[in-house]
Amino acid sequence: MMRDFFVMLSESSLARSFTMHAPGARSVARRFVAGETIEEGIATARALTRAGMKVTLDYLGESVSSTDEARQAADTYLRLIERIAAEKLDANVSLKLTQMGQDIDEAFLYDNVTRVFDAARLHDMFVRLDMESSAYTQRTIDFFRHAWEQGYTNVGIVLQSYMRRSEQDVTLANQLGARVRLCKGAYVEPPEVAFQEKTEVDASFVALMKMLLSDGTYPGIATHDEKMINATRAWSEERQIPRDAFEFQMLYGVRRDLQEQLQSAGYRVRVYVPFGGAWYPYLMRRMAERPANVFFIVKAVLRESPLGFMFNGK
Ligand code: FDA
Repeated sequence: MMRDFFVMLSESSLARSFTMHAPGARSVARRFVAGETIEEGIATARALTRAGMKVTLDYLGESVSSTDEARQAADTYLRLIERIAAEKLDANVSLKLTQMGQDIDEAFLYDNVTRVFDAARLHDMFVRLDMESSAYTQRTIDFFRHAWEQGYTNVGIVLQSYMRRSEQDVTLANQLGARVRLCKGAYVEPPEVAFQEKTEVDASFVALMKMLLSDGTYPGIATHDEKMINATRAWSEERQIPRDAFEFQMLYGVRRDLQEQLQSAGYRVRVYVPFGGAWYPYLMRRMAERPANVFFIVKAVLRESPLGFMFNGK
């Protein structure tokens, strides 16, 4: 399957090195990634907030295996939080625990990430823990729960509707009063842990959305799927759930038309804005979601090749 192929590529270091050096690849990445520096991330967040959107900024990086790199990632988040606060942007941050040292050592991870939680709390800012593959689900939830019990209630998690266990995890999050971002899930998972059919993933999404909207705490409904969005709108209207009690979330560069439509209709919309040099696995997951995106890569590579004159200006 095309999707599995791209997710597999996202984990291949050979493919990463090839793609990151391919002419044009960087310009394709720019369709989904705000840039490589904090300033580029902030500039995009500024433009979006001026247009009435909310933002979550993600400093790209995952599967980090050195403590230096993990510390540097946390330091980047500290600078980012200061910049968001200084500019008074309507923005928070999203991070991945494997970028912060989850594969290194749990105690190191806790010390490293709570530096970010503390800095965010100082500015009354929220931190979202992105959810990675099922190898990390239980550990991420355990980590989150421990942090929550230590008083870090400015932190929330992501739950994926393709995971069979998610109903139980939504129940737990609702009991805690924790904020959940609901998405479908971007990794390739075996049938024992995850639904494989789109109809099942979608049915699970709708069921979990209803649990979150009815009993949860300010959920983020993260999807570009109009069916999921319409189901959310219908449920919120049927149950008279106010529009400021939840938000829609979408990825930077994906369905901007839909983002604007929802915002004009009076819904809260948060755009997930990634930035940083480690864009390769993120880009591959976006290709996996919509293989037609590969067309942009091919076009950009050809444009910057000796045949480029054939594509310029188009
Ligand atoms: P679906 O894949 O069914 O797509 C519906 C329609 O949306 C498509 O027909 C197409 O029109 C459009 N679309 C979707 N993806 C596109 C793309 N890449 N390019 C262009 N068009 C596209 N996953 C995860 O495992 N952990 C996480 O922490 C997060 N975090 C996250 C945050 C936010 C804000 C969003 C929106 C998504 C995530 N995801 C995620 C990704 C998520 O799990 C899922 O892979 C994508 O959102 C695609 O699923 P959709 O719900 O959009 O539906």
